[in-house]
Amino acid sequence: MNPRATVPSKMRAWALTGTGSQDRLEFRTDWPTPTPGADEVLVRVQACGLNNTDVNVRRGWYSRGEPQPVAWDGSELEFPRVQGADVAGTVLEVGRRVENLRPGQRVLIDPWLRDRDDPHNPGKCRYLGSECDGGFADCVVADGRNVHAIESDLSAKELATFATSYGTAENMLDHARVTGADTVLITGASGGVGSALIQLARRRKARIVALCGADKRDQVAAIGAHAVLPRDPGDLGRALRESMGSERVDVVADVVGGPGWPRLIRSLARGGRYTCAGAIAGPRVELDLRNLYLHDLTFTGATVTPPGLFARLVRYIEAGEIRPLLAASYQLEQLREAQRAFIEKRHVGNIVVTTKSDT
Ligand SMILES: NC(=O)c1ccc[n+]([C@@H]2O[C@H](COP(=O)([O-])OP(=O)(O)OC[C@H]3O[C@@H](n4cnc5c(N)ncnc54)[C@H](OP(=O)(O)O)[C@@H]3O)[C@@H](O)[C@H]2O)c1
Repeated sequence: MNPRATVPSKMRAWALTGTGSQDRLEFRTDWPTPTPGADEVLVRVQACGLNNTDVNVRRGWYSRGEPQPVAWDGSELEFPRVQGADVAGTVLEVGRRVENLRPGQRVLIDPWLRDRDDPHNPGKCRYLGSECDGGFADCVVADGRNVHAIESDLSAKELATFATSYGTAENMLDHARVTGADTVLITGASGGVGSALIQLARRRKARIVALCGADKRDQVAAIGAHAVLPRDPGDLGRALRESMGSERVDVVADVVGGPGWPRLIRSLARGGRYTCAGAIAGPRVELDLRNLYLHDLTFTGATVTPPGLFARLVRYIEAGEIRPLLAASYQLEQLREAQRAFIEKRHVGNIVVTTKSDT
């Protein structure tokens, strides 16, 4: 039978119709089910994780105060757009040139959609749910090279917590060349990327100091941090000395920025590495250049992940080397409630929406 015949022509989807409040998110039940091209795969979404990128795009945060709303990479936004980057699901239909996948397989989607002829060029990379429709829907289409079969006992809800956070975290650790010889200071440690950084840095046998909200201390310690300090520790050098025996760390992996940023930089040892993938407490920070050059520091920014990284993550998941931190799940129809909880930041790990109640 033609597999297309089993795919409904219309599906449920959340359409973002412009930037602004949550009213810009519209729940549709008549969204056309996408058709995969020859190199693409149609995936039935079982669960999709939430991310700040979706919220930042809706709020126009990437525009840096300019009137024209833009995407994470400065490109023009197109509406309506189905957001949602972190998809766990099953294969529904496979394009004729896709060889390694078959209907029914459990899959995760790598959200970084690379140019087929120039996959190492970050300037030609699109993000699922931003430059093309994503997973806050019953189905999504992605390039076959981004669709990874996975064998795991984890539920779809749990699998949907990994893609963006863990991909970003592993990319940051690669940029900072983290090894078992390093002590790594991690900000926003209770969040999606921060909790992934703890697990992935621990996997590399690094020593970890985590900064998080005081009420989340015990949960963050349980993820694997060697020391957990409050988000605003006052004298960070002293707090580090008391908890780790030294005022300096080798690496700062930061997703917070904001007013506390200068003390993060001062905490780096000579030759230290600072890597950044976010600025949830504020994107504008004050840098004393003497701290950069007199201490031989290296700064890196990490967003687009290179080919091969996601396959590595899938191997870690299958081997049980990293675990999901599922804080809550909501039905697809409840995306707005899910996003409100996500924005409140009372949780540890990540929040997902599911397309079925039994996922
Ligand atoms: N470059 C990329 O590709 C990429 C990918 C993913 C995320 N990001 C960015 O990285 C940042 C973190 O992402 P995430 O997914 O880990 O976020 P998240 O799950 O929302 O966690 C962020 C954490 O930061 C902490 N925080 C510290 N100061 C804060 C403040 N002023 N306001 C709110 N939270 C504050 C909170 O933890 P405590 O309460 O424990 O302090 C919060 O849980 C975001 O800015 C996001 O846009 C970038």
